[in-house]
Amino acid sequence: MKTIRLQVNQTDIDRAGEMIRRGGLVAFPTETVYGLGADATNEAAVRSVYAAKGRPSDNPMIVHIADMEQLDELVTEVPSVARAMMEIYWPGPITFVLKKSDVVPMVTTGGLDTIAIRMPSNRTARRLIRAARRPIAAPSANLSGRPSPTTALDVLEDMDGRIDAVIMGDTCDVGIESTVCDLTGDVPTILRPGYITAEMIQAKLGIDVVYDRSLFISPENADFHPKSPGMKYKHYSPKANVIIVRGGDTEMRATRAYSILSLALSGDKNAKVVDYKGDSREAAHDFFARLRELDREGVDTIIVTGLPEEGFGFSVMNRMLKAAGYNVVDSDKM
Ligand code: TXA
Ligand code: MG
Repeated sequence: MKTIRLQVNQTDIDRAGEMIRRGGLVAFPTETVYGLGADATNEAAVRSVYAAKGRPSDNPMIVHIADMEQLDELVTEVPSVARAMMEIYWPGPITFVLKKSDVVPMVTTGGLDTIAIRMPSNRTARRLIRAARRPIAAPSANLSGRPSPTTALDVLEDMDGRIDAVIMGDTCDVGIESTVCDLTGDVPTILRPGYITAEMIQAKLGIDVVYDRSLFISPENADFHPKSPGMKYKHYSPKANVIIVRGGDTEMRATRAYSILSLALSGDKNAKVVDYKGDSREAAHDFFARLRELDREGVDTIIVTGLPEEGFGFSVMNRMLKAAGYNVVDSDKM
C-alpha cells in the first residue's frame, strides 16, 4: 500500500475525511501525540488499525470527537461530574472513560462495556473529525511497543506502506499521550497520567480524584511479582538499553548519569546522556522523539536523568520508567 502524504489544507483534509468514511486509516496530529485514525463505528476499519500497529486486539482505543453533539450517541449517560470536567478541559489532552452505547462496536473498546472519549484541541485533528463526519478511533500512530510519534516523520518511520495516509502536521505540543480518567466508578480515577493531573482537577473542581494503584507498582513495591517484568511492562521502547537515574535532586541525578556514562564509554558502549534538568514540559515534548533519534544514531545505552515525581513530572516519569522497562538507578545510592 502506498501511504499518501497529505497537507494541512481544506482539500487534503476533506480527502482524509473521505478516506476515513470509506474505512481507510489516516494518521493525524493531535496536541499530545499523532493518532492513527479510523471510523470508530466501522468494525472492519477498527480491526485494520490493530493489524497496522501489530497491536493485541483486547487493547481498547480512544474515540475522538470534535463537538459535544457527537458525545451523546456514544455513551449511555454523562454524569454531572463528567460534564463539569469536559466543560473545563475539553477540547484538550484528557480522555474520559464512560459507559458505552450500542453504536460503538465491541472491537473499538476491546470488548469492554465502557468507552474512552477525547475531544482534542489540535485544530487539524478537529477539522479531520468534522470532515469525516464520524467519531474517530485512534491509538497512537506507532508500531505496538515503540515510542509514540510526535512528528509526521516519526509516524512514517513506523507506518509508511501500512496505512492509507498521513496528515503532515506540526510537531505535537505536549508530547506524551492524554490523561485517561475513568468516570465509571464512585471516584474519578486516573488510569494513565498526562498533562492534566489529578492535583489540577482537584484544585479546580474541589472534588477527590485518585491515581489508579497500578501506577505505583514498580520493582520497588513489595507486591511486584510479574512473571516477566520486561514483557509485562516494557512500552515505548527504543532498541537501546534505557537507564533512568531517579531520586536526589537535579544536580545529583546529572552527576550520577555522567558517572554511568563514563563507565559505559570505557566499556566500549555507544552511550549518551539525556538530561532535561528537571524540566517536565521540555522532557515530555522531546522524550519520545529523542529515543527514536538515538536509535537512528545507533546509540545502545541511553542514560536519562529523572524528573521530580509530582504533578506533570509524575506523568512524564511514568513514560520514562516504562521506556526503560523499570531499569532504574538511584542517584543517592552507589
Ligand atoms: O493522547 C492520546 O490519548 C493519543 C492521541 C492519538 O489521542 N491516543 C492514545 O491512544 O494514546 P492509545 O491507544 O495509545 O492509548 C489508549 C489508552 C490505553 O492505555 C487504553 O488502555 C486506555 O486508553 N483505554 C481505552 N479505552 C479504555 C476503556 N474503555 N477503559 C479503560 N481504559 C481505556
Ligand atoms: Mg499508544
